[in-house]
Amino acid sequence: MYYKKAEEQIKKIIERSSNVLQNVVDFLCNNFNRYTWVGIYIFQGSNLVLGPWKGPNATEHTRIPIGKGVCGSAAKTGKTEVVDDVLSDNRYLACFVSTKSEIVVPIKKEGKIVGEIDIDSDKIGAFTIKDKIFLEKIADMLSEHI
Ligand code: SME
Repeated sequence: MYYKKAEEQIKKIIERSSNVLQNVVDFLCNNFNRYTWVGIYIFQGSNLVLGPWKGPNATEHTRIPIGKGVCGSAAKTGKTEVVDDVLSDNRYLACFVSTKSEIVVPIKKEGKIVGEIDIDSDKIGAFTIKDKIFLEKIADMLSEHI
């Protein structure tokens, strides 16, 4: 699916649905084949706590301390993390044996991190600069819904 079209559809989901986070997660997972597992972590205290997710399997990492793993690194710096090859990144906390690459996009409200979009892909180097720009827009759109 084209990013622009996806962005428009996500805007509609956000305007119309009552279960915004789960519906956006479902939309991303259903419409982008290389997005194998999509989840939203919510910032709580000094941890990230797993909220809505969609994918083939549940993850054991439902609570990640800030600073730990790729997710915790993005929470610490406030910057999007793109990992083309998870096995070559020693911060990586493994969830699924099939995962090859990952993107983590912070969701900010008034400059503070309130959550993250975390996407795992079974393809190596699945996330391009276009995915990064697209998902950062979606993260902005979600900030009022966390
Ligand atoms: N791989 C993540 C943990 C979350 S799972 O991918 C769902 C990390 O390194 O923080």
